[in-house]
Amino acid sequence: MRILFIADIMGKPGRWALSQLLRPIKVKHQIDFVVANVENAAGGYGLTKPISQKIMSYGVDVQTSGNHIWDRNEIFPFLDFAANRVIRPANCPSGSPGYGSYLHSLADGRKVGVINAEGRVFGRNIDCPFRTIDGELRMMKDSTKIIVVDFHAETTSEKGAMAHYVDGRVSLLVGTHTHIQTADEHIMPNGTAFITDAGMTGPHSGVIGMNADGVLGRFLTALPHRFTVSSDDVKIQGVIAEVDDETGKAISIERLSLDFDGRVPEGYEIVRDDENEDEDADEEEDTDGSDT
Ligand code: FE2
Repeated sequence: MRILFIADIMGKPGRWALSQLLRPIKVKHQIDFVVANVENAAGGYGLTKPISQKIMSYGVDVQTSGNHIWDRNEIFPFLDFAANRVIRPANCPSGSPGYGSYLHSLADGRKVGVINAEGRVFGRNIDCPFRTIDGELRMMKDSTKIIVVDFHAETTSEKGAMAHYVDGRVSLLVGTHTHIQTADEHIMPNGTAFITDAGMTGPHSGVIGMNADGVLGRFLTALPHRFTVSSDDVKIQGVIAEVDDETGKAISIERLSLDFDGRVPEGYEIVRDDENEDEDADEEEDTDGSDT
């Protein structure tokens, strides 16, 4: 199975790139299954129901998230319906809205398990992500050997430790949250494909997707500043992994990073799909936030 993981979709520029490039990427790379991190998809902060549904219409199968999934409480009831295929970190305290994993069935009958977890170093005081993933894997063990984990975490060390912890038990472990793509994609000794951070699908001209002036203002004065999504140097980023259907072990992993200036890049074909709406969702830029 060939799996595409789309790195954190940042606001409207990220959604725009996805709406135009996802289908050409799927055709060129013969992708069977797509996971995308969407926690910054709505103005950089959280997710709304219409935006989630639009992202699905572009060809995403399952959406993962992280700390920012809680930014807009209108999404809480949406998360409670597993069939919406949007998950939040599994190690959120019990009673949190939504689910931390999803078992997806492809049209050809193959099944893929997707688990989302959130790191704790420089993060929130939530449950242990390592032990939580043990529990999620126990629940999935009789359903499929093909497992994708989005570990949404700040530090390279926590993500690297997780790679060793799940090596041989999951097919693909992708770090998210920092929005900077790392150049360390590889297959671990026991068969788990891993990258410390998949990067960001969105504008790379500012500071991790936000315009630099507000971010700089906060660093220089420690006073609240308005953060707004940047607009230039848009890229679609992520990883593509090939996984053995029988064993669930990774065969290959490669980084994806494509510049998007409104046109489909050379080497990719325009794919028309009547159900694929162009990106035109209205969105409110949020006023104030911290990390992404
Ligand atoms: Fe995040």
